[in-house]
Amino acid sequence: MATIVEPASDFSALPVVPEGVFTAPLQRPAHIGEDWLEPAQRSYSSDEDAIWNDLFARQMDVLPGRACSAFFAGLQKLHLNRGGVPGFGKLSEELGALTGWSVVPVPMLIPDHVFFWHLANRRFPAGNFIRSRADFDYIQEPDVFHDVFGHVPMLTDPVFADYMHEYGKAGWKAMRYNRLKALGALYWYTVEFGLVREGDDLRIYGAGILSGPREAVFALEGQSPNRIMLNVDRVMRTDYVIDDLQPTYFVIESFRELYHDTVERDFDRLYRSLNPGFTYANSAVIDVDDVLHKGTQEYHLRGGRGSNANPA
Ligand SMILES: [Fe+2]
Repeated sequence: MATIVEPASDFSALPVVPEGVFTAPLQRPAHIGEDWLEPAQRSYSSDEDAIWNDLFARQMDVLPGRACSAFFAGLQKLHLNRGGVPGFGKLSEELGALTGWSVVPVPMLIPDHVFFWHLANRRFPAGNFIRSRADFDYIQEPDVFHDVFGHVPMLTDPVFADYMHEYGKAGWKAMRYNRLKALGALYWYTVEFGLVREGDDLRIYGAGILSGPREAVFALEGQSPNRIMLNVDRVMRTDYVIDDLQPTYFVIESFRELYHDTVERDFDRLYRSLNPGFTYANSAVIDVDDVLHKGTQEYHLRGGRGSNANPA
């Protein structure tokens, strides 16, 4: 096992990843430094601002009654309906006053260790570009709409903001054990595709669902996917789909419970017990699961994206 130099406990400097630790071979653009930050957020054309406004309006048709209350509170606190792509400077001022987070521009997906480092400093790296009209419904690379509309409102919730901070700090331990995949699954099933209980209802807090057109209804109301109460150990052993709707969603009771479940866990022990690959298929329901809805998996059995399967 490769050794990693322990980062300074305040994460002030970008920790060094020594040889032997796998990091995705991303090509850093020539004008970008090791922190992967753009020198400034780019400016957007009026067409691009209009794309933001149209994406915003589309989500507002589907999210009321489906997105969690923390998300709507965040949209309001940050005035994200001002029109046009939000400026990160103003956004960071407002967010900073609420939970100490800022939003910083990056050119594209960035390496895990750099992403973790920014989170550990309460900086959220957001894509600098916005999708084109041709990609209005689906893009694989996260753009400014996914990152700012989907993720940033949740960072106004103090407990969720602390969860993201702890997640960033936890990245280093996962690298030391070479178990980034497992920690990635936890991110996927919480930050990107998580559901939370509010009273008797389920609500969305995952940015991947909040920022997309089809998944809100599918995740909450579809017969096809499983909905299972989240268990951190189980989720970290579970494979996931990156280019289609999820076969399974995991539900938390509250952000406080998610925070405590994660922070108080003995990750050294957990990482030592994990296989390098995933143990459970993304559609699996297993004995220990607390199942709210066992899905038919019809959507994926019919071929999912690319087929004519109806997600709802
Ligand atoms: Fe995301």
